[in-house]
Amino acid sequence: MEEFKTIIEPFKIKMVEQIKVTSKEERIEYLKAAHFNPFLLNSDKVMIDFLTDSGTSAMSSNQWAGIMQGDESYAGASSWHKMRDSILDLTGHEYILPVHQGRAGERILYGYLGGKGKTFISNTHFDTTRANIEFSGAEAIDIAIEEGKNPKLFHPFKGNIDLNKLEELIKEKGPENIAAVILTVTNNSGGGQPVSMENAKAISVICKKHKINYFLDCCRVAENAYFIKHREEEYKNKTYKEIAQEMFSLVDGSIMSAKKDALVNMGGFLSLKNEELFIECKNLLIITEGFATYGGLSGRDMEALAIGLKEVFEPDYLHYRIRSTAFLGERLKEMGVPLMWPIGGHAVYIDAKELYSHIPVDEYPGQALVCELYLQGGIRTVEIGSVMFGKYDENGKLIPAAMELVRLAIPRRVYTQSHIEYVIEVFEKIMSNRNKAKGLKIIEEPKFLRHFTSKFIQK
Ligand code: F0G
Repeated sequence: MEEFKTIIEPFKIKMVEQIKVTSKEERIEYLKAAHFNPFLLNSDKVMIDFLTDSGTSAMSSNQWAGIMQGDESYAGASSWHKMRDSILDLTGHEYILPVHQGRAGERILYGYLGGKGKTFISNTHFDTTRANIEFSGAEAIDIAIEEGKNPKLFHPFKGNIDLNKLEELIKEKGPENIAAVILTVTNNSGGGQPVSMENAKAISVICKKHKINYFLDCCRVAENAYFIKHREEEYKNKTYKEIAQEMFSLVDGSIMSAKKDALVNMGGFLSLKNEELFIECKNLLIITEGFATYGGLSGRDMEALAIGLKEVFEPDYLHYRIRSTAFLGERLKEMGVPLMWPIGGHAVYIDAKELYSHIPVDEYPGQALVCELYLQGGIRTVEIGSVMFGKYDENGKLIPAAMELVRLAIPRRVYTQSHIEYVIEVFEKIMSNRNKAKGLKIIEEPKFLRHFTSKFIQK
C-alpha cells in the first residue's frame, strides 16, 4: 500500500443519519438535567458520540443485504450456521455458542467457573467482566505489565501480562483456585493497548504447565492483529486473519462481544475447545438466553455478524481504522494534551489526572473532562478512572483507580475526517480553559458498575 499522508475512509456513504447541532447554552441545561453524567443524556443531545465503539459501527451494504436473508427459525436456522462457520474459521474452536453480547457469555462461563475462593487473572478485566466475576463471589486480579501503567512511556505492547506476577499469583493462590486467565485483546481498560503474540504464547505455556483455563476476551482481536503485524517482526508477512487465528490456537476458548470487531450492532459468542464445559455452558445459555442456535439473537443479527467478522480483517479497513485513531491522538499530543502513548486501536485515552492536576482524584478529574468535552463541543466520552474502578475503604475513603483516563472511543466507519478535525478544535478550547475546570462529587451511586448511573454535582 502506498503511504500518503491523508488516509481516506475506504468506503462511500450510502445512507446518512442526522446530527442535531446544539449550542453551548443548551448543553449546559442538558448536562445539568443528566446530573453531570453523560450516560444519562439522550443521544439526540450529543453531536459526536465517542462514548463507546461498542454496537455503534456502521454496517456495510453487504451486511444489510445479509440481513434480508435472516432465517428466523427457532432451531437450526441457516443464519446460525453461517455465523458458526465464520467463527469456526477464525477461532478453530469446535464448540460455539451464540450470545446476545459479551457479558452474556461472561455471566455463563465465568459464573460457572467462578464462585467463592476462585481467582481470575487478566491484563485488565473489563468492567462487565469484573462485575460478573465478583458477582459470582470470585476475585478478579489485573496484572498488566508496569509499563502499561505509565501513560507517557512508549512500549509496543502495553497490554501484555506481567509473566512474573502471573507465576507468583499462581503459586500464592494455588493453581486449582485459579478459575481462568483471561487475555483481553486489545486491553481496553488499560488504554486500548495491544498484546504481543510472544506474550500470548508465554501465557499459554504457563497455563498449560499448571492446567489452568486460558481464555481470550477477543472483542478487538482484529485491531490487535494489526499491531502485531506492524510491531512484531516475525509476523510482518502474515495476514491479519492468520495472526488472529494463531492467537485463538493458543487458548482454551474465547468470548467475543461482536459489537466491536465483528462490525455489528448486537451479538457475541462463546467458543470452547472442551466439550464438557461447552455442555455446561449450553445448559445455562438455554435457561436465560435462548436456544443454542440463536442465544438471544435474531437470524438477521447472525447474518450480519457472519459477514462483519470477515470484513473486519480487510487490510484497507484495518489500516484506515488504526491510522485514523492514531491521527486524532497524534494531533492532540502535538497540542500538548497529555494522553496514553502510543495510541491504541479503538480509542484515544486522555490522562485527565495530568490535564487537570488541580483537581484531586476524589473529585474525579476524568469526569470533569467528560463534562467539559460535552459542554464545549457536544462530544460524549467516558471516564475510565476512579468513577469506573474506584472503591471505598472501611472508612468510606476513596481507593482510587491506577489511572484517571478519559476515553474517546471511535465508532467504526461512522465519523469522517471533518468530525475528527472538529474534535481537535474542541480540544484547543479545553486546553485554554484547563485551569477553570471543576471537580465533582458523587451524590447517588449503585453498588455495581457505578459509572453508568451515578449522579454528580459540581464542586
Ligand atoms: N470485554 C471487553 C474488553 C469489552 O470492551 C466489553 C465491552 C465487554 C467485554 C463486554 O461486552 O458490552 O457486549 O457485553 N465494552 C464496551 C465498551 C461496552 O464501551 O468498551 P458487551
